[in-house]
Amino acid sequence: MWRDLKSMATTARGRGIAPLFDGTRAADFTVRFDGMLLDYSKTSMDGAVRGALLALAEERGVPARREAMFTGEPINETEGRAVLHTALRNLSGQPVMVNGEDVMPGVLATLARMRSFAGSVRSGAFKGAGGAITDVVNIGIGGSHLGPDMAVRALMPYADGPRCHFVSNVDGADIAGTLAGLDPARTLVLVASKTFTTTETMTNAATARAWMAATVDDPGAQFVALSSAEDKAGEWGIDPSRVFGFEDWVGGRYSIWGPIGLSLMIAIGAENFTEFLRGAEAMDIHFRKAPAQDNMPMMLALTGLWHHQACGYATRAVLPYDQRLARLPAYLQQLEMESNGKGVAMDGRTLNYGSGPVVWGEPGTNGQHAFYQLIHQGPEVVPCEFMVAARGHEPDLAHQHALLVANCLAQSEALMHGRDLNAARALMKEMGFTGAEQERQARHRVFPGARPSTTLIYDLLTPYRLGQIIALYEHRVFVEGVILGLNSFDQWGVELGKELANTLGPVLAGNVPMDGKDGSTQQLVTYVQSSNG
Ligand code: F6P
Repeated sequence: MWRDLKSMATTARGRGIAPLFDGTRAADFTVRFDGMLLDYSKTSMDGAVRGALLALAEERGVPARREAMFTGEPINETEGRAVLHTALRNLSGQPVMVNGEDVMPGVLATLARMRSFAGSVRSGAFKGAGGAITDVVNIGIGGSHLGPDMAVRALMPYADGPRCHFVSNVDGADIAGTLAGLDPARTLVLVASKTFTTTETMTNAATARAWMAATVDDPGAQFVALSSAEDKAGEWGIDPSRVFGFEDWVGGRYSIWGPIGLSLMIAIGAENFTEFLRGAEAMDIHFRKAPAQDNMPMMLALTGLWHHQACGYATRAVLPYDQRLARLPAYLQQLEMESNGKGVAMDGRTLNYGSGPVVWGEPGTNGQHAFYQLIHQGPEVVPCEFMVAARGHEPDLAHQHALLVANCLAQSEALMHGRDLNAARALMKEMGFTGAEQERQARHRVFPGARPSTTLIYDLLTPYRLGQIIALYEHRVFVEGVILGLNSFDQWGVELGKELANTLGPVLAGNVPMDGKDGSTQQLVTYVQSSNG
């Protein structure tokens, strides 16, 4: 199957993209769902390629695996766990069974507690030592940070609660910079950690507690824990009434829908948070029920596989023309690369093909003035995933939004059409260049074109829409993982570095000899030690 797809990719490369457009291609290579439109017509996929990709998804058992996920089967096989972030946004009243037990009563009870707590923080009924809470600091990293940070920024037009801040890095600069200027007596700290053991988070949490203890008599009263390890949160000194737990079947990078999303709920309010869940739930139902070709996550995944596996493009750029989605690329880096950046298949077989691509990006139009040079003219082809809202939240600045949209659409057009040497020559002639200089200048103005992109367009970035978008990407990662035969829900690759960091702490402090370390590491340790006297 892959061999066929690769040979189709070779043919497609010679054919380009623009010539594929007939009267119906745009509509035919588009998926519309619930107010969103995903246009993948500006890719080199034709009907035969799409047919082969759809057949591949079927052959690799995507529908059965999808059903296994939604029904609580332990599809995270290396950890023996179900994968049920979808239960956190199941507002349908339908049960979700894990090991013969309905998990929904527990999920809904926690959601109700979150609503009540967030409401009391927002209304001022919950007080710090100095009165109503003005600032919330979420301390967490990875999945306990990227989602809420991204979403709070994205939904700023709805954020009428206390200000939310996010601390993740163990670099003291992060927490020092965040706490500076905050009033400890009116600050609430959320310690967000699924395991409640992550070094960065526990170190920052201890720093925050010491900061608060300097002026507040009972600092523990202004701490909240968001964790699966409720016992550990209790041992750390957080009262059970302020511990919001979730089950191990919620993966860290899939956890924004439950307690890890508390900062978002405090920022935008419970009603807007429910809309956020509803958007994701709508995408879940669509993903589960829509025929493959009309299924947005499925087609986004197949487009991704086409580019990465068949065409051999090593990276993909996520380019939101939506400033409030500035942290979406970082969020998707964890979602996609921690999920599918694997070297072995589910059954332990070493992969003899690439797994997930490198994902990167920046909001437009900023990226245009930075790295688009490479995207347009560099030798590497970078499939671009554009996204843009038809309307902005600033009615007074509609003219700016129009410019933003125009830029987004122009980029995908330019990538596809390019500019050939003759057109470049004509341009140079117009500019007054002649002879050899005209030719030399023209060569620099050639755009190869035939560079693929997709565009996701939506009306306005609302809580509902953001929920849809995140769930769309979650399911895209799932489909790609199933087709590649991976476990998208473990992350063993992050462990070795953590283990070595633990051994290096005492070495740097000079308490343990560095004999066992390689020459390079010894040299670096010596430098640090001598710089610290
Ligand atoms: O190191 C990777 C990781 O385990 C991520 O998967 C996770 O999102 C992050 O660390 C934070 O983990 P925790 O929520 O347990 O602190």
